[in-house]
Amino acid sequence: MDDLRDKYLRQIGDAADEAALEQVRLAAVGKKGEVALKMRELGKMTPEERQVAGPALNALKTEINSALAARKVALEDAALDARLREEWLDVTLPTRARRPGSIHPISQVTEEVTAIFADMGFSVAEGPQIETDWYNFDALNIPGHHPARAEMDTFYMARAEGDNRPPHVLRTHTSPVQIKAMEAQGAPLRAICPGRVYRADYDQTHTPMFNQVEGIAIDRDISMANLKWCLEEFCRAFFEVDEIELRFRASHFPFTEPSAEVDIRCSWEGGTLKLGEGDDWLEILGSGMIHPKVLAAGGIDASEWQGFAFGMGIDRIAMLKYGIPDLRAFFDSDLRWLRHYGFSALQAPTRHAG
Ligand code: DAH
Repeated sequence: MDDLRDKYLRQIGDAADEAALEQVRLAAVGKKGEVALKMRELGKMTPEERQVAGPALNALKTEINSALAARKVALEDAALDARLREEWLDVTLPTRARRPGSIHPISQVTEEVTAIFADMGFSVAEGPQIETDWYNFDALNIPGHHPARAEMDTFYMARAEGDNRPPHVLRTHTSPVQIKAMEAQGAPLRAICPGRVYRADYDQTHTPMFNQVEGIAIDRDISMANLKWCLEEFCRAFFEVDEIELRFRASHFPFTEPSAEVDIRCSWEGGTLKLGEGDDWLEILGSGMIHPKVLAAGGIDASEWQGFAFGMGIDRIAMLKYGIPDLRAFFDSDLRWLRHYGFSALQAPTRHAG
């Protein structure tokens, strides 16, 4: 009995981890362990022998069990200590310098445009990027057979089989938001509508998705003169140049009458673009007086109200203002490009005072 006791207490003390300790437990006090075997031998003993051996075996079992329990706690403590030593963390270290994120030029320019037109009393209206045929075309006086539909390289949404209605489209311009704004607010109305538009086209100056901003002003006696003043005011503020000259070139859009494309005077001397001087002209937007049919489609009485509208490429004016050469890079998500052309999150939109 003393031998058993010494043997197992030593083995318990030597067990290096919980697995080794479990082996010792099974060998000593498990169902088939040595102590159990000894207990079985009690049957062969005389009653006198049994009276001595029985309690001694029980005491041995108890002693071994408490030695096992104590060792188990000690091993757990040691394991925790080892882990804590391993996983230490120096909370007094200085924080690591991280690169701050940046604002994409499209977001920045949208903010700038919005701030400038807000100063002139324009609110911001929004519409869905998936439009019905009606809002994208018909309501804007572009009926089914009109060549403008083909010219726009429209993306059509799939229709369920058997559904013969005209398919929805990815809006090809922000002009449908004009109609939505008229329906929602009625006249008088002054709003800009910035957002994404889609056309199946891809080269250095075209991407299948790009950004436009639409502007409309409707009142009883709005004229082309108001349009001209607004756009000049906008260009001065946006491009931060005092002397801006715009040229209104007669054009045609189904949704305006008369229509004008607007060019800005510029020079390309020395390979760099300067606005407001030189002998070149750069087209920046389309505009005109809203067609009476378009007003009617928006629920506005054309005999009482009239207004101007314009549509401008946000990406395009961003490229001009910030000297960005390739439109496709706007949508490549290249971090190096973003770090170069991006804006600090705390940089306020520029607003030229002159
Ligand atoms: N929707 C035209 C386009 O995407 C741009 C445009 C031209 C909008 C003239 C207008 C406008 O509001 O009056 O090409």
